[in-house]
Amino acid sequence: MAILKIAKMGAPILGEIAEEVLDPTSQETANVVSNMLETLIDAGGLGLAAPQVYISKRIIILFRLSSREEELNYDDATNLLIMINPVIEPVSNKMGVDWEACLSVPGMMGAVPRYKKISYTWSDLQGKKHEDQAEGFFARAIQHENDHLEGLLYPQRIEDLQLFGFSDEVNRNLDLLNKGSFKE
Ligand code: NI
Repeated sequence: MAILKIAKMGAPILGEIAEEVLDPTSQETANVVSNMLETLIDAGGLGLAAPQVYISKRIIILFRLSSREEELNYDDATNLLIMINPVIEPVSNKMGVDWEACLSVPGMMGAVPRYKKISYTWSDLQGKKHEDQAEGFFARAIQHENDHLEGLLYPQRIEDLQLFGFSDEVNRNLDLLNKGSFKE
């Protein structure tokens, strides 16, 4: 296992469309996932997509949280979702706006519109296909990670750039910034 370098906004790979994983069961895929997991835990993040560690493959790892406030437990492996070749579809057109951060945009936060409820499919490391639905915070996290596979970073989705800033300032002024009651 190895801790990998995380690409930051400005690195061209973050703007590329990632390649389909042809064999989710390969040792190579397992190695990528294990290195991504070590990297994610080291960085203290919630989720990571392979392009963020300079690997242009459709691989996402994400810890399952139902809200931002919920505490993240890296030791609980049942909380970890490993998605190979995920495909996302909105269940309805309803959108919500809420704050996001990203390991590739360190020190910053922005308010991003996302679908409130999605259905999604993916393959696991055994090659088994899964299908599920997600809503709220978890649906947002999946959409954020999936965007990395499409070459998109969350700042590209921000509609009101007044709601984009340094995390320490944003957190200090959260009540004021949320005043427009845009929150989902
Ligand atoms: Ni991100």
